[in-house]
Amino acid sequence: LAKLSLEQGDPLGWFEVLYQENGTEGTVIPWADHVPNPHLVEWARKNPGTLVGKKALKIGCGLGDDAEYLEQLGCLVTAFDIAPTAIAECRKRFPDSSVRYEVQDLFQSPSAWTAGFDFVLESYTLQVFPPDLRRQAIPILSGYLAPSGTLLVVCRGREENQEPGGMPWPLTRPELNAFLQTGLQEIAFEDYIDHENPPVRRFRVQYEKEKA
Ligand SMILES: C[S@@+](CC[C@H](N)C(=O)[O-])C[C@H]1O[C@@H](n2cnc3c(N)ncnc32)[C@H](O)[C@@H]1O
Repeated sequence: LAKLSLEQGDPLGWFEVLYQENGTEGTVIPWADHVPNPHLVEWARKNPGTLVGKKALKIGCGLGDDAEYLEQLGCLVTAFDIAPTAIAECRKRFPDSSVRYEVQDLFQSPSAWTAGFDFVLESYTLQVFPPDLRRQAIPILSGYLAPSGTLLVVCRGREENQEPGGMPWPLTRPELNAFLQTGLQEIAFEDYIDHENPPVRRFRVQYEKEKA
C-alpha cells in the first residue's frame, strides 16, 4: 500500500486505506500492538512524575495506546492522526477517555497548537515519512512546544553510510540534528538495540525548548 501510494506521489494517502482494510483478507496494521510503546514506558519509568499535569500532544496516535498511557501518567492529552478510521477506533476503544482525539494532518495542523504543549511525543511517524517530509515535519514538531517544553522522539536508527532499506526507514543522527536548528536543546540521545526478534536499533531522543 505504502509503495503504491508513494509511487503515485501521495505519501500520506495509504494510512487511511490501511486502517480501513484492517482485519480484511488478513490485513494487519504492523505497528498496532494494543499496548503503549515500550520505549515510552521505559522513559517514563526513568523520569517518574515529570509528566503530571502537563499538556501533552501525541503525534500520529494510531489506535490510541500511547495517548491513553500519557493520560494515566497524569497528562492532559491531545492526540491526533491523519486517518479518520484510526481516530474513530480510538474513540470506540476508549469511550470514557478524557484524551482529546482529533483527525488532523501534521502538515496542516491548527495554528492554535503552536507553542501549546509541555510535552510532545513522536514515536514511529517520522520513520514512515520520506526524507523531504521528515525535513518539513521537524520544525512543525518543534513548534508545538511551549517554552521549556519537552519533545521525546522514538525511532529506528542507522549510520549515515548504511542503506535505509525498506519502510520503516531508520533515521540518522544528522537528520535528527535538524531539531537543534529549531530552538531545541538535546537533553539525552540514547542509541541502543531493543529486545525485539530480530533486534532493532533504536534512537530515543529527549529535546527541550529554550526558555521564554
Ligand atoms: C507508523 S504509525 C505509528 C503509530 C503510533 N505512533 C504507534 O507507535 O503505534 C504512523 C501513524 O501516523 C499517522 N500519520 C501519518 N502521517 C500523518 C500526518 N501527516 N498527520 C498525522 N498523522 C499522520 C498514521 O496514520 C499512523 O497512525
